[in-house]
Amino acid sequence: MADNKLTPVEKLNQDEAAAELARLAAVIAEHDARYHREDAPTISDAEYDALKQRNFAIEARFPDLKRADSPSEKVGAAVSEKFEKIRHRIPMLSLDNAFSDDDVRDFAARVRRFLKLGEDIPLRLTAEPKIDGLSLSLRYEEGALVYAATRGDGTTGENVTANARTISDIPNRLKGNPPAVMEVRGEVYMTKEDFAELNERQAAAGKQTYVNPRNTAAGSLRQLDSSITAGRALKFFAYAWGEVSDMPSDTQMGMVEALQEFGFVTNPLMAVFENVEELLEHYHAIEMERGELAYDIDGVVYKVDDLKLQERLGFVSRSPRWAIAHKFPAEKAMTTLNAIDIQVGRTGAITPVARLEPVTVGGVVVENATLHNAEEIERLGVKIGDTVIVQRAGDVIPQILGFVEEKRPEDATEFAFPATCPCPLETPVVRETNASGEESVVRRCSGEFACPFQRKEHLKHFVSRRAFDIEGLGDKQIEYFFDDESGLEIRTPADIFTLAKRDESALTKLKNRDGYGEVSAQKLFDAIEERRTIPLERLIYALGIRHVGESTARTLARSYGDWGAFEEASLKIAEGDEPAREEMDALEDVGGAVIDAVARYFSEPHNRDMIDKLIGELTVEEAEKPQSDTAFSGKTIVFTGSLERMSRDEAKAMAERLGAKASGSVSKKTDLVVAGPGAGSKLAKAQEFGIEVIDEDEWFRRVEAL
Ligand code: IVH
Repeated sequence: MADNKLTPVEKLNQDEAAAELARLAAVIAEHDARYHREDAPTISDAEYDALKQRNFAIEARFPDLKRADSPSEKVGAAVSEKFEKIRHRIPMLSLDNAFSDDDVRDFAARVRRFLKLGEDIPLRLTAEPKIDGLSLSLRYEEGALVYAATRGDGTTGENVTANARTISDIPNRLKGNPPAVMEVRGEVYMTKEDFAELNERQAAAGKQTYVNPRNTAAGSLRQLDSSITAGRALKFFAYAWGEVSDMPSDTQMGMVEALQEFGFVTNPLMAVFENVEELLEHYHAIEMERGELAYDIDGVVYKVDDLKLQERLGFVSRSPRWAIAHKFPAEKAMTTLNAIDIQVGRTGAITPVARLEPVTVGGVVVENATLHNAEEIERLGVKIGDTVIVQRAGDVIPQILGFVEEKRPEDATEFAFPATCPCPLETPVVRETNASGEESVVRRCSGEFACPFQRKEHLKHFVSRRAFDIEGLGDKQIEYFFDDESGLEIRTPADIFTLAKRDESALTKLKNRDGYGEVSAQKLFDAIEERRTIPLERLIYALGIRHVGESTARTLARSYGDWGAFEEASLKIAEGDEPAREEMDALEDVGGAVIDAVARYFSEPHNRDMIDKLIGELTVEEAEKPQSDTAFSGKTIVFTGSLERMSRDEAKAMAERLGAKASGSVSKKTDLVVAGPGAGSKLAKAQEFGIEVIDEDEWFRRVEAL
């Protein structure tokens, strides 16, 4: 954790600086050991970088005080005793870091100055993702793998050859015409998906789960038993080299292309640029894409493309002058777990939510993180008061990865999962059992509509974008109106539509509230009026029947056509009427779970009462029944590539209206593929299966000809 009481570097005197350098050397060495040897860091990368930077800054101000064991001279940590040692013929180096666009501009300027390169001469730089794994050096002689060594301290690494041979991205023999001696270097990593799967397996077997893909990859590679490594889905990206008897190219990019020809996987996001601004653009593009990548990356590495220039540039201590790592803002951070609250969802699912001491993760302030369920809390072993590691990936809800043992306060308290819903009804929390009799990890409040939390969530769903979509009535406003006690309360869906007429003075009341003026109050009432007429499929979806999502709601609406028919069938099913059940069961994509949920929903007096009141307020539009006599009836159609005359959603709706089924993937059962420009694998598959393929214009011609 950052220590706020640190004296700024520029205020340190000689003695203080010496003491601080000694402290930093010890602290950094300790963290190095945790990271490299134990694969179990206790501080975030950003915090580690901050320690290193402070050390650098002090050394820059007091060069004479630089210690013999200075952390700036070290790469990684000493090797572990359990593996045979291998001395790298060419050291495995570290990279200097850049943390801002300006740092990168400075880097390029430094390179130019060093080489005395005039402004008019282009400087070609490569940019590629910095893979968050561990580096490995592979020595090939006459095309055959001789050994694989970890980086270790940069000079001496560990012999992990047997383990490396189990990684399918690492060829035992090189392809093409490799030089007699070819040392290939790159990063061993694990994909996010494989990491998640491994953890699932570990948890299912009652074993310890892992913190992140990087440490897991490191731990997996450094197993004494290579059959364990073989069971882990490790991958390898090649991006550099050590000793090479005869260089296949004179550029960085050319070398990486050669590595590819020798049979290695290289990173597809690597590119060459001639000016720094383009380089930075690429960095920001990768940064945006980062969450979608299959593997973790922690920055972008820039390298001078011309190997002759690289040679001229050389090294400063342990990092090349010709390369720099532009780090992403930290997406993991440590903070205190202040409390665990219980949240009740629309279906009564009870979720523990971590309340955190606000912390910035990847540029966003995080105060809450999901803890999923009681098993997750147990798995993590976290207690209230702990220092936890929070991760934020893309737009997903932040997650807690673990806690820091050393920082656990004495008064840390264990969280007791409640036996009752936190709502005033205190209804018992139940666990469902699935078809095979196993208990679900999800706990639910059994109060359903009687539980105010669930009602609130139901209302939020009711007004959501794909349901009633009432402008100006979102989650925040539902909270506000739900708790109202002045006659403007919204506690059931019908209340929304009685709001304006409930009381002559509703508008006056509302416009005097904070947040509402005359105009916004009137606007809200207008928006509600507008939605008084609603398509049947939106209404069915809005009811929030379990397992009835948008597409099921659409199927139900199209099959029954109008509200009366759907309601009648549902009530019959609720009473146990077999023919009604069979009729619903015959619908595409409607199975037992949906029908049971519909039956339960309609047998609940609360719900029936709510529905009666609601329907009394609405005009429900009939659904267009699919045409059963068109050339497309019963056919399965796939739309792929970019469509110019309609959106993908519109195309699908059109096909469904014509009695066809629109599918997202091509299989042997597909009848027709409508392919626009840019169609790829789906088109190829259609051709392979001999399925009819037409373009968008032909699609419209056929539809118009109906
Ligand atoms: S180049 C002499 N390229 O980052 C430079 N390193 O902080 C050799 N890393 O030890 C490294 N992705 O483990 C390079 N595309 C990439 C990388 C990369 C990840 C790691 C590597 C290295 C560390 C340096």
